Amino acid sequence: MRKLMILFAVLSVFNTKAGVEAADTRTDIRLSSQHRALVLTEMGQFLSGLQQISDALSREDMDAVASVARSLGSSMSQHMPAGLKQALPQGFRKLGHSVHSSFDQIALDAEALGDSSHTLSQLAETLSVCVSCHGIYQIRTE
Ligand code: HEC
Repeated sequence: MRKLMILFAVLSVFNTKAGVEAADTRTDIRLSSQHRALVLTEMGQFLSGLQQISDALSREDMDAVASVARSLGSSMSQHMPAGLKQALPQGFRKLGHSVHSSFDQIALDAEALGDSSHTLSQLAETLSVCVSCHGIYQIRTE
């Protein structure tokens, strides 16, 4: 009987999980395959930049933190083609802009304060914007 109850408990966990996966409520953004590839490349740069920042933080190398953070800042989005900017919904652009500005601020503070725990808390805040945007949008090709 106990085993059966455990089995039901396990099954109900799986059921809830399957339910969550089936209900994908993210908004589709339709882009050309080149534009989609550009956005995903930028995302890859975010991830690899975060890896480098964590590594630099663990060594308290605040100059490296600042230089990687700066590369993920507003200057990164200036290379984006105008056509792609227009194809992105305003809400997406706002969240993207917010992440780039946060990296600018992280770079400035890393240089001015050199305080790794301050940088860490800024990173946690920034990552929460990555997480929100991923919960809202997905990108499909036209
Ligand atoms: C403005 C919205 C937005 C923000 C902000 C954002 N992302 Fe994304 N990201 C997306 C979308 C949309 C996708 C594509 C998801 C899909 O189509 O399933 C994506 C995909 C990715 C991918 C997968 C790339 C691939 O090659 O498939 C990674 C990694 C990623 N994001 C990392 C990050 C990190 C790290 C941050 C924060 C520093 C971040 N993203 C911020 C919207 C965003």
